[in-house]
Amino acid sequence: MKFFIDTANLDEIKKAADYGFLDGVTTNPTLIAKEGLSDQDARIKAICDITHGPVSAEVVATEPEAMLAEAKHLASLAANVVVKLPLTMDGLKVTRILSKEGIRVNVTLIFSAIQALLAAKAGAAFVSPFVGRLDDIGSDGMGLVEDIQTIYNNYAFDPEIIVASVRSPQHVLRAALIGADISTIPFSVISQLAAHPLTQKGLEAFLADHAKVKEKK
Ligand code: E4P
Repeated sequence: MKFFIDTANLDEIKKAADYGFLDGVTTNPTLIAKEGLSDQDARIKAICDITHGPVSAEVVATEPEAMLAEAKHLASLAANVVVKLPLTMDGLKVTRILSKEGIRVNVTLIFSAIQALLAAKAGAAFVSPFVGRLDDIGSDGMGLVEDIQTIYNNYAFDPEIIVASVRSPQHVLRAALIGADISTIPFSVISQLAAHPLTQKGLEAFLADHAKVKEKK
């Protein structure tokens, strides 16, 4: 399973790259706004300089013509930009046009398996089901990923499934058990993935025992 990082923060992206856990990046308008940027294009380019993996940049226009123009602009920023479009009828229309032109689209804000089926038929390269937001309303986010995986297997559909809105290591574990292609993970969760209390306790015991050996010398 590939690990993307869900952030527009350059320090977090660099740290994930240094640890060797950076197969790509997803951003969205909220993550970009958090950075307080005056030049969004420059930030997308800077992210694309850190990773050669796919970098999702989201279109904020809502009318098809404007969406198309914005998508093409974003795609022109770097070869590894993936245009992110919302799962709306117009978003699907634009997805179809862009995919025919060879521009990769990540269809975002997916909350049902039928939406993921539509995105696949429109030619999406990636689909992003938001598992955490579904869990927040008492629904089963990872159940949605299972359903999408089944549908895509049934028909040998191409899009890679990006498990998005990840809130905990459990989401990452279940994504891997299901066989999802990608998890896009906030830096705070990446940091939790390696942690286990018994690892920490075991390390402390080993270091204490090692110190005793040194004392005897
Ligand atoms: C996915 O590409 C989105 O950026 C993201 O995962 C949204 O997650 P949130 O529900 O934590 O905002």
